[in-house]
This record gives sequence, C-alpha cells and structure tokens, in this order.
Amino acid sequence: MKKTTDPKESIRTFPHFPTVLVGCGREEKTNLITIALVHVFSFDPPCVGIGIAPQRYSFELLRDNPEFTVNIPPHELLDAVMICGTLSGRDTDKFGECGLTPTESSEIATCGVDECPVTLECKVMEEITIGDHVWFIGQVVNARVIEGLDRKELVLYWGGEFRSPGELLRERK
Ligand SMILES: Cc1cc2nc3c(=O)[nH]c(=O)nc-3n(C[C@H](O)[C@H](O)[C@H](O)COP(=O)(O)O)c2cc1C
Repeated sequence: MKKTTDPKESIRTFPHFPTVLVGCGREEKTNLITIALVHVFSFDPPCVGIGIAPQRYSFELLRDNPEFTVNIPPHELLDAVMICGTLSGRDTDKFGECGLTPTESSEIATCGVDECPVTLECKVMEEITIGDHVWFIGQVVNARVIEGLDRKELVLYWGGEFRSPGELLRERK
C-alpha cells in the first residue's frame, strides 16, 4: 500500500542520476564542482543543463564566464568526485588537491579533465532559476570521448549512495 509522503522526501525515491565533474572559470580562476543535477535538454542542437545552487563559488564563476565543461568520471575517480563535491574553489585548487590534469578546450576558455573519458565543452545559452537551483543550459560545441567507452564504468549518485549503472534489462528496438 502507498503512503502519503512529504513532497520534499518523495524526490529522494528517484533512481540514481549520472554524476559529473563540471569545469568552470578560466585561467587562475579555474574550478571543478561535482554535480548530480545534470540532464540532456536537447538533441539538436545538443544541449546539456547543470543545476547549481547560488551559494556555490562555481555559480559566481559561471555568471562571469558563461561556459563550462562536463567531464564524466570513471569509478576510479570517486575520491575526486567527493573532494570536488565537498571543498570549495574559493580556498582550494581542486585540480591540485585531486591530482587531476587540466586540458585545454578547443572552443571555450574553460578546461576539461584529462582523466575523464568524456569531456563536453558547453557554451551557456539559457539560465533558468527553479527553486533553490539555477540551471545553466549549455550547447555542446565540442566533445572528446575515449575510444571504446564503457558506460558501465561511470558513476551514479542519489540519496547519499554512489552506484554503478546496473544490468542491461532490454535493448530498445
Ligand atoms: C555527489 C554530489 C553531488 C552534488 N550535486 C550538486 C548539484 O547538482 N548542484 C550543486 O549546486 N551542488 C552539488 N553538490 C555540492 C557541490 O559539489 C559542493 O557544494 C561543492 O563543494 C561546491 O564547490 P564550489 O564552492 O567550488 O563551487 C554535490 C555534491 C556531491 C558530493
């Protein structure tokens, strides 16, 4: 039997979401932030949105320099995911702290993460405030993807749990 549940609690029941390292800022203000609120908003042109709380340092950086990289981490980078999701770039160089390598982007000034098998370079097209987060919707203007990418090796997060993508149930024909 279903029970009436607090709407704020009810959203915790969602299955886990992809979790990414977002690169933002430029030059000496380069930063990384862990984001679970990430979604594809359009196929053509390809657009990806990230939900950022306004109190984040990354929010200031995105307002100043409206572009970002979406870097999809493998399981091995779980410690970096935690560090980039706990410390603030206001007082930490997160690339240095995590031992990650910044890579120059080709279409934007913001860096990507070399150790991530996927890096999407995005230019912000729209900013939408919804409740306690601001969604920056970016068009993917360049992308680098490792050959032979295994999507089972990527990281999901929700409700305090990190997981890997589960078994394949069926292929859509
Ligand atoms: C797994 C995980 C997912 C997170 N997802 C988000 C998110 O979607 N949006 C957000 O604003 N903060 C999210 N955070 C919190 C930020 O990553 C965290 O506050 C970070 O330290 C902010 O860094 P900054 O001050 O350098 O911007 C998440 C943290 C973790 C650990």
